[in-house]
Amino acid sequence: MRSTPSLTASRRKFLRYLALGPAVASSFLVEGSLRRAGVSLQGSDPGLESIKSADQVLDVMEFEPLARKALPAAHFAYLATGVDDDATVRLNHEAYQHIEIRSRRLINVEKLDTSVELFGTKWETPIFLCPVSSMKCFDPDGEVAVARAAAKKRHLQMLSTVAGSSIAEVTAARGAPVWQQLYPTNDWAVTRAIIKRAEAAGSPVLVFTVDHHDKANNETQARGRRVDDRDCSLCHSGGFSGYLRNKPAFDGIDISKVTMLYDPSFTWDYVKRLKDATTMKLVVKGIVTREDAEIAVEQGANGIVVSNHGGRAEETLRSTIECLPEVVAGAKGKVPVLIDGGVRRGTDIFKALAFGATAVGFGRPQAWGLAAFGQSGVEAVLAILRQELEKIMRQAGTPSIRAITRTFVVP
Ligand SMILES: Cc1cc2nc3c(=O)[nH]c(=O)nc-3n(C[C@H](O)[C@H](O)[C@H](O)COP(=O)(O)O)c2cc1C
Repeated sequence: MRSTPSLTASRRKFLRYLALGPAVASSFLVEGSLRRAGVSLQGSDPGLESIKSADQVLDVMEFEPLARKALPAAHFAYLATGVDDDATVRLNHEAYQHIEIRSRRLINVEKLDTSVELFGTKWETPIFLCPVSSMKCFDPDGEVAVARAAAKKRHLQMLSTVAGSSIAEVTAARGAPVWQQLYPTNDWAVTRAIIKRAEAAGSPVLVFTVDHHDKANNETQARGRRVDDRDCSLCHSGGFSGYLRNKPAFDGIDISKVTMLYDPSFTWDYVKRLKDATTMKLVVKGIVTREDAEIAVEQGANGIVVSNHGGRAEETLRSTIECLPEVVAGAKGKVPVLIDGGVRRGTDIFKALAFGATAVGFGRPQAWGLAAFGQSGVEAVLAILRQELEKIMRQAGTPSIRAITRTFVVP
């Protein structure tokens, strides 16, 4: 029996073909593919020249070439990169385009309820902002600008351990607590200090990222650096410890023993260790199999994020939407299952909800919006996704998030 009932074997083969072949020349393509197509990292798309403000942007993907134009090559490549051939990055998005929606008619959708509840907090929509590191390289206000946008549009925000602003600053800008993402490091004293700082900032949830070992093969990022002739030593110097010293989460903490953000010797015991060390809820981010979902729940995780780090960690060729059904099956309704990766349309969000996700997040588009137009760009990305979700909910005949069930998609 197949463990991923969402897509047939032939479809998976087709998706791989699409991801690896030249047929996918869309604006979404990341640099690895752009390079193969002979397009420069700093190129711009004709037709987008007329866009002068965020409210003129039609869809989320349009922000990508605008960001490419706004950013230095190395920074855009850092954002765009996957691993190896960037195929998993593309598949995360492509896979949504092979799931159909079964619309129902003559259902009263005059009033829509897009709200969801997560750990006792009600959110107006299931759309959340994923943790994205080093956002000051996209805009000087970085995570603080994202927090202001999240506050204005009332969305859940997760903050990276290696963010460019402290959790205290971001919480103040958000006007409410954010969820703290955790790269645990190989020094427990440092990990504990980060946890205590998040608790002090009122963070209700710790998001433990388990899918990213240090030193992934991010070739697109390396190529971007190669063509960027600026003097990067002004911001990047001192190797790994210099990198950490620039990250406010580590301010005032002795990081002399930290040599990595994720220790490859970690096992599932670490989940219990974290649970015992904090009063926050613990969500495990980076789960892609039924087996790991079951173990995460057994070990006391309060939630799961189906994620492959936006295709930045390993080249599996498995999109997250393909992984979602088996993870939902493994969680057995005991904990909420969130998802991210390749989400660019309201219909993508609808499909993920139909396959059992409680909330749906996105990473790169917030940085595209930020790089192109600062805070208003992030607001526009959030507004577009929300409007598109509302449109498809009306069209498909689902007046509430709860009404979006498996029967509304054709696997
Ligand atoms: C530039 C960049 C930095 C990221 N930094 C982190 C991070 O610090 N912690 C983390 O858990 N995930 C990180 N991610 C992964 C995102 O949280 C998220 O899983 C992913 O971006 C979703 O895929 P999408 O970009 O296709 O929407 C990062 C992703 C990008 C693109």
